[in-house]
Amino acid sequence: MKALEWQGNHLLILNQTRLPFEQQFRKAESYLDVADAIKKMEIRGAPAIGAAAAYGFVLGALEYQGKDEDLSEHLKEVRIVLEGTRPTAVNLFWALRRMENKYRELQDLEDREKISEGLLEEAHAISEDDRKMNKLIGEYGNEVVTDKANILTHCNTGALATAEYGTALGIIRTAQSSGKKIHVYAGETRPVLQGARLTAWELLQEKIPHTLITDSTAGYLMQQGKIDMVIVGADRIAANGDTANKIGTYALAVLAFAHEIPFYVAAPTSTIDLKISSGAEVTVEERDGAEVRFFAGIRIVPEEVDVYNPAFDITPSKYITGIVTEKGIISPPYSVNLVKMMVK
Ligand code: MRU
Repeated sequence: MKALEWQGNHLLILNQTRLPFEQQFRKAESYLDVADAIKKMEIRGAPAIGAAAAYGFVLGALEYQGKDEDLSEHLKEVRIVLEGTRPTAVNLFWALRRMENKYRELQDLEDREKISEGLLEEAHAISEDDRKMNKLIGEYGNEVVTDKANILTHCNTGALATAEYGTALGIIRTAQSSGKKIHVYAGETRPVLQGARLTAWELLQEKIPHTLITDSTAGYLMQQGKIDMVIVGADRIAANGDTANKIGTYALAVLAFAHEIPFYVAAPTSTIDLKISSGAEVTVEERDGAEVRFFAGIRIVPEEVDVYNPAFDITPSKYITGIVTEKGIISPPYSVNLVKMMVK
C-alpha cells in the first residue's frame, strides 16, 4: 500500500479521498497536478505531503521549456505554488527547502537533464529517509508499549500518510510484529474520516485487532479504564513541544491528562520546527465548510448554516508524555530537550 510512486516521468498518487472502497490513481504529470492533489487531500499526511511536493518540484524542472537562465525563476514559482497548497504541515516546507538547496548545488551544470536527474535523486532520498525514520520511530515507540495495551489513535498516520510504514501507526505495527497482543481504538476523525476510511483499512490489512469509534466516544472509553495509552502523529512541533495535529487531538490530550493516561506524539524530526517558539505561531488550515455540510456526498445541513472547519488544533506540550522521533523519545522539558535532540 503506497500513497505515491515515481514512475519514470510522472508521480502516481493513490487518491485517498476514494478509499477504502475504490483504488483510484492520479497520474500527476505536472507540478500543478501535484499541487491540486495535495489541496484536494488526494494525498495527505505530513510526511507524504512533503514527499509528494518534492516530486512536484522535479516535475516543475522537467516540464520547463524556457531559457536556461530563467529556470531559477520558474522553480521559484513552482516552490511558491507547492508551498501554497496546505499551510500547517511543516514537512511540506522542509522538503521544498531541501529541493531548493539541491537545485542551488546543481544550477551551474550546463546540462539541464543532469539538473533534473540530481533533483529526482533528492526527491527519492526524501522518501527513503522518511521510510528509515519511520522504522526507527516504530522501534523507539515500541519500548513504551506494554503487552496487551489498548491504544487509542487519531486520524491516519500509517503508510498512506508517509513514504511507507507510518509514524504513530508505525509504532503500532512494530508492537504487533514484536509479538505484543495489542488492540487499537481508531477515532473516525470527522469531517474527512481519515480514521474510519484509512486507519481502519490499514489495520484490517495488517490484521491488527482494532475497533472503530466515533470521536466523541474517546472520553467514555477512558472513563471506563479501557485505554492504556494514546499515540498520535503531528503536522508541526514547535520548539517548546506544542504540537499541531489533526483537529480533535487537543481534546484527546486533555482527556488523557485527566485520566492519567500516557499521551505520545510520534513524528520524524522533519516535523519539528525550531523556528517557532510555541504552537501559537502555527498557521492552522481552515477548510471548506462543505466538508462538514455533507456526509459521504449527502447534504446534511442547509447551505446557509455557518460552519467552522479548522483542519488542525494545537496540543500544549504540558499534556504530552513523550515525543517519539527517529533519534529517540524526547521527554519534557521540551524547550531544552528538543533542541538537544535536533543537534545530536
Ligand atoms: O489533514 P491530513 O489528513 O493531512 O492530516 C493528517 C494528520 O493530522 C496526521 O496526524 C499527521 O499529518 C501525521 S501523519 C504521519
